[in-house]
Amino acid sequence: MKVLICGSNGQLGWDCQRVFGKENEVMAYDLPELDITDKGKVEAVILEFMPDVVINCSAYTQVDKCETEQELARVVNVDGPGFIAQACKAVNATIVHISTDYVFDGTKEPPLSYTERDEVNPLSVYGRTKLEGERRVAQITDNHIIVRTAWLYGINGNNFLKTMLKIALLTPEKQVKVVDDQFGSPTWSLRLALQLERLVQIKGQGVYHATAEGYCSWYELAVYFLKQMAVPFNIVPCTTAEYATPAKRPANSILENARLKLSDNNKMTGWRYGVEHFISRFGQQLIDEIINMKRI
Ligand SMILES: NC(=O)c1ccc[n+]([C@@H]2O[C@H](COP(=O)([O-])OP(=O)(O)OC[C@H]3O[C@@H](n4cnc5c(N)ncnc54)[C@H](OP(=O)(O)O)[C@@H]3O)[C@@H](O)[C@H]2O)c1
Repeated sequence: MKVLICGSNGQLGWDCQRVFGKENEVMAYDLPELDITDKGKVEAVILEFMPDVVINCSAYTQVDKCETEQELARVVNVDGPGFIAQACKAVNATIVHISTDYVFDGTKEPPLSYTERDEVNPLSVYGRTKLEGERRVAQITDNHIIVRTAWLYGINGNNFLKTMLKIALLTPEKQVKVVDDQFGSPTWSLRLALQLERLVQIKGQGVYHATAEGYCSWYELAVYFLKQMAVPFNIVPCTTAEYATPAKRPANSILENARLKLSDNNKMTGWRYGVEHFISRFGQQLIDEIINMKRI
């Protein structure tokens, strides 16, 4: 199978290259070689490679910056996926497009979760543009797999776990407040890439939720991760109200992988297991990267 990956230097794109590269012919692009907002370039790349599947991991993912960079967020999260979907339709390829838990308003009381059938109501520019992106893709081609995930971490790119580790290692004396009243499911991008592989194999269609099983708060995640890393830390819980951010975030981001479970295709595992597995593979590398950063 020929697989094109867009956003290949991001967390998920990086792991998709590894997972899909094992048994497929993979072509991987990111900025500046392929800007998904460049319609002509998107068409040219897809027409030349003639992929069976295009996985769109590109996105404008800086949730707070989206509030001030609204036009850029819309172009990357809505128009770009639309251009990819159009080109996929022209060559009869499947588009796998990634979306987010932030399409929901999070007003359900945890541990209640959101399934694919729940009403969407995004609270932020990021969430609204990602939802519009889903709809744009689905309007253009039926040959789509849209996967909503949440709280991603991986070895490539920036994420919450790396930020917590950096603070703990470089400024151990500093006390850090971490939000303890937003709940979600921390999801390892490698595990998600394996789930995408399964969805492609079974020729999935429509919208799927795919996050790690179980849930926690950001504070619980930070504490669990740093304890497993055996790194001393000075973190205290706080409320969302105490930690003001430009973008409003859902208090409850817990997604249920309902369609995956219904069809017996859920490959996602518990979030604690994911964090432990991530550490066993990359724990030392994470520390080395930060220590080297300090030396520079
Ligand atoms: N991270 C999360 O917690 C999370 C949660 C839920 C859903 N998601 C969704 O999951 C997907 C993957 O997320 P991720 O965490 O892997 O994202 P990421 O690490 O931010 O990677 C996104 C990649 O897309 C690239 N990109 C940005 N604008 C582009 C453009 N115009 N053309 C081509 N590439 C462009 C970025 O390049 P630059 O870095 O140079 O900008 C980056 O390499 C996204 O759709 C995201 O919305 C993420």
